[in-house]
This record gives sequence, C-alpha cells and structure tokens, in this order.
Amino acid sequence: MEIILLGYMGSGKSTIAKKLSQHLNVEMIDLDTYISNKENLSVSSIFKDKGEIYFRKRENQALKEILTTKKNYVLAVGGGTPCYANNMDLISSHGVSIYLKGSIQTLKSRLELEKESRPLIQNLENHQLLEFIAKHLFERNPFYEKATHTLKIDDKDSDEIIKEITSDML
Ligand code: S3P
Repeated sequence: MEIILLGYMGSGKSTIAKKLSQHLNVEMIDLDTYISNKENLSVSSIFKDKGEIYFRKRENQALKEILTTKKNYVLAVGGGTPCYANNMDLISSHGVSIYLKGSIQTLKSRLELEKESRPLIQNLENHQLLEFIAKHLFERNPFYEKATHTLKIDDKDSDEIIKEITSDML
C-alpha cells in the first residue's frame, strides 16, 4: 500500500508518517530527508546556497523517483510539494493521499516553536506568522484539497489521527 501524507508546514506529516508506517509495518520515507541525503545538505542550506527554484526541481525529481520505484510505504512530502510542477497529479496517480488539515491558529502556534529549520518562515517575526500562513494557505489549499482524504488535525493527538486513518481511509 502506498500512502502519501501532505499538508502545510507544521501539520505533523513526518511524525504521523513515522507512526503510521510502524503501525502498518511498511517503510517510512520523508521527502525532505531524501532530498537532503542526496544533496548532502540540509533543506535550509539548499534554499540558501542554491535557491528555491533548484530545490523545487530536485523535489519534483525525488518525488518521481520514489513514486515510480518504490512500493509499500508511507511518504511524507514537503508543505510545498503538492503545489509545484505536476506533483499533485503524480501523487494522485500513485497512491492514497491524505491531507492533514490544520487551522491557521494551530499551525501558527506550532510553527512559532519550529521556525528555524524552515527557510520560508525563519526570518519572520512571530507577529507576522498568522498573516503569512493565512495567505499562503489560501494559495495552497486548492492543491491540498485534491487529496483522496482530508483529515482535520486540530486538538487531536497522533494516536487519534492514526486511528482515523486506519479505520476510515485505508
Ligand atoms: C516547504 C516545506 C518544508 C520544506 C521546505 C519548503 C514549503 O517541508 O519542504 O522548507 O514550501 O512549505 P515541511 O512541510 O516538512 O516543513
């Protein structure tokens, strides 16, 4: 079974992917980590040294590589992955996709604590985050909403999320 988790930064894609893959006893793949390992650089350094366009090209290549060569996995993609190139179509044609949907407020509270590793928000002040996320989500939601399933994550812990996925979506 091929499961692809998507959603905005801070929606818990990597954490849920790890737990879900353990639960289902399949491989967990994190697209950012996959790219980072291939480039021998952190995602932040790729953005800084090579630029976002370079990152988006590598992201598209890496996604294609994984989707066309691997089987039986839970894949966590990056927050922007579904919104560039033909990535969302590729995702839709290769597995069950699940949008982990958080409210602007939930995402803001989480991202305030985790800005540093994220090049798109690391230079923002906390008071700028809410508006940034609101605008960004408005642009990205149409892509995220193409997922096979949408799961609201506000006020839910990872066990509840895993339970909903395994009982309703697979
Ligand atoms: C990005 C999200 C990041 C990472 C990169 C760009 C985005 O992944 O791919 O910093 O465009 O939203 P996470 O969603 O895992 O933070």
